[in-house]
Amino acid sequence: MANYRRRRWRESMTVRLDLNGLLATAVGEDGLGPGDIAALEPELVRVREDICARRAAGRLAFAELPRQDVQPVLEAAAAVRGRFDTLVVFGIGGSALGARALDAALGGAATGMRLVVVDSIDPHAFGPLLDQLDLRRTLFNVISKSGETAETMAHFLIVRDRLLRELGAVDYKQHLVVTTDGEQGAMRQIVNDEGVRALAIPAGVGGRFSVLTPVGLFPAAAAGFDVEAILAGAAWVDERGAAAAGTLADPVLALGGLLWLFAARRHKPVVVLMAYCDHLAAVGDWFCQLWAESLGKAIDLAGRTVEWGQTPVRALGAADQHSQLQLFVEGPRDKIILFLRVEDHGDAIDIPAAYQDLESVGYLGGHSLGELLNAEQRATELALAKQGRPSATLALPVLNAFTLGQVLYLFEMATVVTGALAGIDPFGQPGVEEGKRLAYGLMGRPGFEAKRQEVEAFLARKDPRFVV
Ligand code: PA5
Repeated sequence: MANYRRRRWRESMTVRLDLNGLLATAVGEDGLGPGDIAALEPELVRVREDICARRAAGRLAFAELPRQDVQPVLEAAAAVRGRFDTLVVFGIGGSALGARALDAALGGAATGMRLVVVDSIDPHAFGPLLDQLDLRRTLFNVISKSGETAETMAHFLIVRDRLLRELGAVDYKQHLVVTTDGEQGAMRQIVNDEGVRALAIPAGVGGRFSVLTPVGLFPAAAAGFDVEAILAGAAWVDERGAAAAGTLADPVLALGGLLWLFAARRHKPVVVLMAYCDHLAAVGDWFCQLWAESLGKAIDLAGRTVEWGQTPVRALGAADQHSQLQLFVEGPRDKIILFLRVEDHGDAIDIPAAYQDLESVGYLGGHSLGELLNAEQRATELALAKQGRPSATLALPVLNAFTLGQVLYLFEMATVVTGALAGIDPFGQPGVEEGKRLAYGLMGRPGFEAKRQEVEAFLARKDPRFVV
């Protein structure tokens, strides 16, 4: 029986949210007192009811993913494992960052294919990458919900051409798996017309909320990660929420609610996600996209201009203690810090005892690197608190598929909570669209001629005196 089926194991693997560093008792006047928390609770009750209603009506499709039937993804991965050494994922934004976060976090446990997630169209990055691939042993997973994103389509066209030339019109298809909308888009049309293997992104699940769909799970399964444990971790977050005694005992409501409160009521327009674990750095990138693209919105649900958002910043301990921390401790009081901490880093690397006569070096001997890393995190937490800078800590007992599933789903659900409290729609990204249209115009896409003219007029207005 898998570990995660045992309740006691799940409890021992629970990711805990420590909110102490947000309290006035820890950080003084910027922190929360009992009155602030009491005032937040009815708002969280309202949000909990709203989310329950949306889920019951099937309007929060990503929230049901933890209980999906994952068999088709496992079968698709099993069908390709052993035939290829490398899986190259082509996608961007929500179609890349989830797979990259899973790979970075769980890569150490890989028993399957090597994953390479490609979201760069910089020719200096892409050219050398292609050149070093053995195409005969490489599978390409083209991921695009819309099926038309320029960067991903460019990657697809380049690789398709190389595959056709190297393998021929029959075999090239064996090296492609397309993950796209089940019904619509250019990629779906190509898949249908050419009979390329495809996986469907469930209806109603947008890019940055899609890590628990085939977008993230197929690459994860191909790499040999335990995708059922990832989903079980996500389901555990829901289970804990359902059993929570009060709103703040539910980590989803607590995290989303408090981040909203600090952004909206305490002038903390910046949230720093600071991971003390290199393997979680890519979760930081994934979180930044989720938080920025979901919550940065001009218009609220009532149609008013609000220009809401909280700017996410990624930091990595302990390295960023020696670069960004000075700003966090002494710069503008506009930030809330969210630590990601791993209690047990596993594979202990001990620091050998030596130079006992040199106190500034000798004290390290006998400790492990993981101990040092965690001591640095605690020290940073307190150093911030002493300057009145609020922080919270998300602590993973260990980093594994189950705890990672909790972290990802917790952030996704917290995003919905924060969006609901801010009165904005966390889905959709209208602000990104105009840039896409202008780029289409410049690249000559039919129907976007006016956009090209707009860019040309914009360039013509540039005053050369101010290009120095
Ligand atoms: O979160 C989002 O919706 C975006 O970041 C998209 O994932 C990104 O723009 C890529 O879109 P697509 O999957 O349609 O290629």
